[in-house]
Amino acid sequence: MQRPCYHFTPPANWMNDPNGLVYHAGEYHLFYQHHPDSLVWGPMHWGHAISPDLVQWRHLPIALYPDEHGMIFSGSAVVDASSGTLTAIFTHHGPDSENQSLAYSSDNGRTWQKYPHNPVLRAPGNIRDFRDPKVFWYGGDDGHWVMALAAGKAIFFYTSPDLREWQASGMFGPGYGAMGGVWETPDLFPLPVDGGPETRWVLTVSVGDGGPAGGSGTQQFVGQFDGRTFTPDYPPDTILWADFGPDYYAPQSWNHEPHGRRLMIAWLSNWQYALLAPATTWRGMFSLPRELSLTRTEEGIRLRQRPLPALATLRGQHHHWQDVTITPGDNLLATLSGDSLEIEAEFTLTAQTACFGFCVRAGENEQTRIGYDRQQNKLFLDRAHSGHTDFHDQFARIHTADIAPVLDSLHLRIFVDRYSVEVFANDGLVVLSAIIFPSEQSRGLALFTVGGPTHLRSLDVYHLRPAT
Ligand code: FRU
Repeated sequence: MQRPCYHFTPPANWMNDPNGLVYHAGEYHLFYQHHPDSLVWGPMHWGHAISPDLVQWRHLPIALYPDEHGMIFSGSAVVDASSGTLTAIFTHHGPDSENQSLAYSSDNGRTWQKYPHNPVLRAPGNIRDFRDPKVFWYGGDDGHWVMALAAGKAIFFYTSPDLREWQASGMFGPGYGAMGGVWETPDLFPLPVDGGPETRWVLTVSVGDGGPAGGSGTQQFVGQFDGRTFTPDYPPDTILWADFGPDYYAPQSWNHEPHGRRLMIAWLSNWQYALLAPATTWRGMFSLPRELSLTRTEEGIRLRQRPLPALATLRGQHHHWQDVTITPGDNLLATLSGDSLEIEAEFTLTAQTACFGFCVRAGENEQTRIGYDRQQNKLFLDRAHSGHTDFHDQFARIHTADIAPVLDSLHLRIFVDRYSVEVFANDGLVVLSAIIFPSEQSRGLALFTVGGPTHLRSLDVYHLRPAT
């Protein structure tokens, strides 16, 4: 298999969740759940890479190895402002329990020493699932460290003055949102609403089953956090999905982002079939980094996710169209092809609009379709015939998300790579991400309309250069 053109993959073998996302001394660090000796999940290590811009990545040696306390499961990393020491806070997954531990680096993450008195936080009682600590600093000079931790179908909160002593400070759930599986990999951060001054806290929680597209998925809660515990703005039965596609799991955001941005990245896979997805020398990819913001909509305050602006540095050859009406059977894009593309389109919906969209990675008998069904007000991503699909019976499916046009227009931004499609609709209010495994030659592109004409207000297609 080739490598994706601009999505992160491990140097070899297995990768799942992003871990320890932190900015320090001019570098964005990215650690990840890694089994360096096999294409399938096994004793977990933390793999490591760095980037100046979150677009170009450089692999570094493995940061954390399993030890006498167990495997190194997911967690986060912070910088101690006084010493510049990087601290990783992660789960030690032992045969009978999950406990939280520390490791330090005083050379910008190049080498790591485990804290000799690990673990620093043991699972209370007989809780078996007690993992994935997300740690961050809360408040100013007289603030404290906060840990959000997944425990069964709840999130527990702890506070600490020094990352070593932890006090329970609150809990959220169970009984809120989606609970089809165990809760995992929480993240918690404040964001201004429509640029401020009002602020809300966002708690993202991965759920191991019952996701919007089947299998694992990511939900988010919007509410208040007082430094000790989280209170949601909505009733318990509200479910807000971060992504309606099948492949967006275990997202985490960078600590200490120097421009104050909230940037998030996730594992592009689903526990339903992650171990079975086609692979040769590596298995697992990350999503594009997304910049998050909050906006007030008619339904309430909602998360907006936009692709990282610096991805524009990859743009190469560009094609532009404006005010074109397409009719069934047309293909404006017949002369274009590619396996590394960005497509930005704005459609004007009229009384005649029925169904329209794009075919990407199209070839003989295969294509991935992304479109909008006016009658049902649904965005869809159809990978039923996307290429290699028969490794799992749930893979060849059509995934949808409800979406209403904004002032009679629909905005789509689509990123196509060798093994993935990410669709940002209506400026990132609805997102659908999916992995695909087409054959290398399937590079065709089409713009289709069925059941009536479609009016295109504008369309830009960019060929994206490889990121490395
Ligand atoms: C999420 C997860 C985490 C755990 C890690 C193990 O995908 O199950 O809860 O820490 O993967 O690899």
